[in-house]
Amino acid sequence: MKKIKTTFFCQNCGHQSAKWLGRCPSCGEWNQCVEEEERVTPGEGSLGACFNEEPLSIDTITADEKDRLLTGIAEIDRVLGGGIVGGSAVLIGGDPGIGKSTLLLQVMQNLAASGLVVLYVSGEESARQIKLRGGRIGASSKNLMVLVEVSLENILRHIREMRPGIVVIDSIQTVYSSAITSAPGSVSQIKETSGKLIMMSKKTGIPIFLIGHVTKEGLIAGPKILEHMVDTVLYFEGDSGHAFRIIRNVKNRYGPTNEIGVFEMREHGLVEISNPSALFLSERPRGAPGSVVVPSMEGTRPLLVEIQALVSENTFGIPRRTTIGVDHNRVSLLAAVMEKVCGLHLGNHDIFINVAGGVKLDEPAVDLGIISSLMSSFLNRPIDAETIVFGEVGLTGEVRNVGRMDERIKEAARMGFNRCILPGTSFSETVTDTQMTRVTIDTIKELSGHLFM
Ligand code: TYD
Ligand code: MG
Repeated sequence: MKKIKTTFFCQNCGHQSAKWLGRCPSCGEWNQCVEEEERVTPGEGSLGACFNEEPLSIDTITADEKDRLLTGIAEIDRVLGGGIVGGSAVLIGGDPGIGKSTLLLQVMQNLAASGLVVLYVSGEESARQIKLRGGRIGASSKNLMVLVEVSLENILRHIREMRPGIVVIDSIQTVYSSAITSAPGSVSQIKETSGKLIMMSKKTGIPIFLIGHVTKEGLIAGPKILEHMVDTVLYFEGDSGHAFRIIRNVKNRYGPTNEIGVFEMREHGLVEISNPSALFLSERPRGAPGSVVVPSMEGTRPLLVEIQALVSENTFGIPRRTTIGVDHNRVSLLAAVMEKVCGLHLGNHDIFINVAGGVKLDEPAVDLGIISSLMSSFLNRPIDAETIVFGEVGLTGEVRNVGRMDERIKEAARMGFNRCILPGTSFSETVTDTQMTRVTIDTIKELSGHLFM
């Protein structure tokens, strides 16, 4: 009899070890180590079988950019890089209740209405529950087939028999393969089931959407290898207190990454928001100290967002640095640069930064915006409401050039801003917009002279 090989897997991050460990050395979580059967025979699980084994000259291979499947929801199509590519696997992760199932059901209803046969496999809800959700969002196409199933073998059999145009698995953590003894959702089950499903998709050209649960750190649960296996990884973001939902592309083999799509959760499902800048600026307080607008590039699109800062004196204890939407270490660094270069003593002040609307900014181009909002709150002087700022800030306080200035300025002009403070070292880019007054600065020492009106 063949010996079954077992390995210990961290259920949080997928780390493997030969013996049981109390604390995972990779992610630091306690008590996540579980013994699981390890599949050693590549067999059907290897991707090798699905590719053409004969070498082909690249100019004889046919593939057309226009072959993409359009969902009819413009924000989704853009996030996917211009529609769904045949045979591609898309992984979509997000907190529970954020709207993953709702979004995919809406997308699938659109595709089904356009004549495509859709197979929606759910291991989380009953057919009646899916029907009730469908009723809310108006999903009633007869091409939209619902299958409540968790067995991988049965799912694959149905796909083979039905030959749908597209498949959704809600969620990959509920699917299990009887070839493996571990529980559904365990690392080896996820590897096995997603591997088989992706292979099916590559072989047949049927695109597949996998919904994935996330860990409490917000990463897709299970092995990191899952993210390597799929072609596109989307994260659904947004906090439960807000109706806004942002879908972000963190990996895409067929298009630009970091592209975002903005939605609002309404009574009848998710509604796309085609002008997010207007949305994020709609509640902006004018003339309030600590508020500034920055143009940030999200993928290929510039987005205007408001950064708010609150700097208040700390009379006891260690000053706090609390940030929402921007990197906490970056803010500490910029506060130290301000202290050194501008002589603003932030050291004994609490700093709170918030990016309005639940957006996450991770571009260095927002550095100057963070500094401006801190300065404004610290000095208690409001920033001119018609001014935007952007630029990267270095450790000596120099303001550095950032990419795609033209697009940022154009978006700001479109939203009615008439003045921008930007790096002086702009090189090749020719800013054509004439209505915009441009104030260029080389160091943050010059900032306060231009910021306040
Ligand atoms: P759901 O898609 O079930 O989330 P997930 O699959 O990510 O766990 O979303 C459920 C939430 O969405 C729930 O809080 C109710 C809300 N919702 C609406 O506000 N409007 C709607 O039309 C629908 C279908 C759901
Ligand atoms: Mg769901």
